[in-house]
Amino acid sequence: MLCRNESEGTKMARETWRSPVGFMLAAAGSAVGLANIWRFPYIVGNNGGGVFVVLYLFCLLIIGVPVFIAEILIGRETQKSPSGAFKMLGKGAVWPFLGKVTIFTGFVVSSFYSAVAGWILGYLVEAIKGNITIFTSGEQAATHYQHLVSQPLWTLGYHLVFAGACTAILVYGVKNGIERCSKVMMPMLFVLLIILVIRGITLPNAGQGLQFLLTPDWSKATPTVILTALGQAFFTLSLGQGTMVTYGCYLRRDDNIIANCAPVVLMDTLVSLFAAIAVMTIVFSAGLAPTSGPSLLFQTLPLIFSKMIGGFVFAGIFFLLVTLAAITSEISAMEPVIAYLVVEKKWSRRAATLLCGSGVFIVGIPSALSFGVMQDWTLGGATFFDWVSSFCTNLMIPLGGFFAVVLVGWVWGTSNAIKGLRKGAAQLFARGPWLDKYFSFCFKYAAPILIIFVFLHKIGIL
Ligand code: PHE
Repeated sequence: MLCRNESEGTKMARETWRSPVGFMLAAAGSAVGLANIWRFPYIVGNNGGGVFVVLYLFCLLIIGVPVFIAEILIGRETQKSPSGAFKMLGKGAVWPFLGKVTIFTGFVVSSFYSAVAGWILGYLVEAIKGNITIFTSGEQAATHYQHLVSQPLWTLGYHLVFAGACTAILVYGVKNGIERCSKVMMPMLFVLLIILVIRGITLPNAGQGLQFLLTPDWSKATPTVILTALGQAFFTLSLGQGTMVTYGCYLRRDDNIIANCAPVVLMDTLVSLFAAIAVMTIVFSAGLAPTSGPSLLFQTLPLIFSKMIGGFVFAGIFFLLVTLAAITSEISAMEPVIAYLVVEKKWSRRAATLLCGSGVFIVGIPSALSFGVMQDWTLGGATFFDWVSSFCTNLMIPLGGFFAVVLVGWVWGTSNAIKGLRKGAAQLFARGPWLDKYFSFCFKYAAPILIIFVFLHKIGIL
């Protein structure tokens, strides 16, 4: 995936993607993951259905896409890890610190992400054993899920295996393994989701599920819902935590950023929408509650696999693909910490990866136990998992994205940014002269101001 380009300066700068397709696959691998397949359907369910989908798409286009492009641009221009990159473009003491904050966020995300990905891995094993294709009602599927996630050995065991696998890949196999596996995995995941969507919409009462997703009820557009939509747009594009800055720094200086990023956003959005359609049609057809939270995917899909011809095989392939999608996302969340330790602190890659992997496992333990032995350890009614995941997705990630876009729009300046974006994209800009204005406007005004608005709204100042 990455290859060495000896002609350039630092060790970091020498690593580049083999081709723009390599970048696209890695970025799509990072973006498409549990946030699309597991998280999106349940937060749509918890936040009013259609209204959330519309707000999410709005946040994605007006804020998510410019921040995504800004982060890739920061990485490509500086060819440095987030801390070095923020320092180079931002000067002063505060920017390198903010760069480090984004790296820290990525680390915390990878801890609770690994805990949930562990369930997916556990469900893959359950699927192979034939344990999740025998349900006749949604309650049975829900009870089975409750039983599994409340067992500390089950959750911790799979969390350990998942974090260990990602650590091993990061030590040994990023260069070839992930690229090859992404090439096959992404299209397969897509096809399988389409099969599930078709199965979902042909179920009795599926229309109610579609209606729930497609008819916005504007009375439900509360500040919390808007902030959740913003957090989801950032989380799913892997923004605000150094990942895309780090992936951007492996681009060549004349790679066309816009053309390489657009397919990533499109693919990511389609996967989220397909997952939501599949899950919601099943929810309404089986008479389940759309608001059951993190357990939703595990209650619905096993039920449909139980009813499908060949469901056993589909279940196995599905959980395998989602596990692989989660691996490509997890390693991208861990990579900024490792890149920082290697490039700026001169650690060996092996030591940096082992430290990061162990940290991810240890910090993820309370998240993994939050659905069982620690479910009563609550503060303000929320478990450790609830706290840490909403701290990251609703606060740290939007803040990280805000810093990146302010750095580009205000500190480095929009004229430098547009010059950067034009590299390798002269034809695109000639065909679409509005791109100049669109990106200048988004970097400087739309994205930062809207993020501030959402925050002020949320804390009740507006
Ligand atoms: N984008 C990933 C997903 O959708 C999650 C992620 C967040 C990965 C941040 C890396 C960094 O699952």
